[in-house]
Amino acid sequence: MAQLWGGRFTKETDKLVYNFNASISFDRKFYKQDIMGSRAHVKMLAKQGILTGKERDQILEGLDGILRDVENGTLEITSEYEDIHSFVEANLIDRIGDPGKKLHTGRSRNDQVALDMKLYVRDEIDEIDGELKTLLQELLSLMEKNVDTYMPGFTHLQKAQPVTLAHHIGAYFEMFRRDRGRMADIRKRMNLCPLGAGALAGTTYPLDREYTAELLGFDGPTRNSMDSVSDRDYVIELLSALSTVMMHLSRFSEEIILWNSNEYGFVEIDDAYSTGSSIMPQKKNPDIAELLRGKTGRVYGALMSILTTMKGIPLAYNKDMQEDKELTFDAIDTVKGCLRLFAGMISTMEFHKDVMEASAKNGFTNATDAADYLVNHGVPFRDAHGIVGRLVLLCIEKGISLDELPLEEYQKLSPAFEEDIYEAVSMKTCVEKRETYGAPGPQAMKKVIEENREYLEQN
Ligand code: ARG
Repeated sequence: MAQLWGGRFTKETDKLVYNFNASISFDRKFYKQDIMGSRAHVKMLAKQGILTGKERDQILEGLDGILRDVENGTLEITSEYEDIHSFVEANLIDRIGDPGKKLHTGRSRNDQVALDMKLYVRDEIDEIDGELKTLLQELLSLMEKNVDTYMPGFTHLQKAQPVTLAHHIGAYFEMFRRDRGRMADIRKRMNLCPLGAGALAGTTYPLDREYTAELLGFDGPTRNSMDSVSDRDYVIELLSALSTVMMHLSRFSEEIILWNSNEYGFVEIDDAYSTGSSIMPQKKNPDIAELLRGKTGRVYGALMSILTTMKGIPLAYNKDMQEDKELTFDAIDTVKGCLRLFAGMISTMEFHKDVMEASAKNGFTNATDAADYLVNHGVPFRDAHGIVGRLVLLCIEKGISLDELPLEEYQKLSPAFEEDIYEAVSMKTCVEKRETYGAPGPQAMKKVIEENREYLEQN
């Protein structure tokens, strides 16, 4: 049991207590951030004359050695230490002796862990943003290829009006684009450095907090030392944003599961992204999409957990806050994995364009357009709505689509119908007429694709 404290204790820590209290099994994940924070702290201490230049160099060399050895596997982070901070400090003292004992001058584990967690979360935000960007690029290239792939648009899961695959995928593009916006907002708001807050009340050493903040890429130091050591808002914001990412992935996965079913047949998930059944030889299951949908629960769970942990904590640091880590790490890893898998799944998926178009036609998604045709020939909309409703009923009885209904039948219900009704209700026309900004019409769609292309080039 290697601890950084013990002077005022007369008994050994109970073994169960030690294990319950220790965080090394999970905070080992930010060994790099811990060392980076210590490097900046030491540089600042020397700049302020609190350490000599020689002591600084010895400590920096020792820290670099620890980092190198951990990364090349010669130094193992073991549960012999209480936490990652103790591990680094104890190893530093082992390596360089007395100067190592000066590392923790003007610092507490409270501001140290607040810093480590922020550095870790900030790095992960950048990685998640990269995964989101890769997914957006994939979605945009699918959109470019499918501006004239017709499919039914749904409301209430009932066929509603014809759209295109580009337009449908474009809806998800917007969701994931907003997710990236949330990452950027969180990063900006959290980017103040807590180091120098000490245990809670700052320190009597003349620290230069601006300098440490600058060395670590922060926009400046945090403004209140008590808040600095007890703020986990940014973790909550991140988990909330990650929950939204998962909600988006889950909705899209749900659609893919439906589209991949025998009943829809809109897509076929690649063999590499499907699994089989141990008993039913014919089965090819969309397990990956299902797991993506299922893992959403874990990420929501992490958000609920930290919200609950934080709700009753008095200022400033309390050990409850150690609970901010495990589930956050798990949520981050889950989301990164899911984004990568999802991008792989849709980039290898086959789209059955003919089935999609036939489904749009057979589901009367062009009924609104038939009514609009009558309106353009002078029939009031409410009457047109009734006439087309009766035409749809007739088609259902006959088991045909609107474009298969003979002209006489149309004309029996309204003399305004002429031969050009067939062109008016074709999927192509129905989509091509929808040219309001944001609609599936090809010109409107191309404009949005262009804007999103520019966005990806600039961000
Ligand atoms: N492992 C602790 C955490 O994650 C580090 C801070 C410990 N500070 C303390 N005063 N016990 O929060």
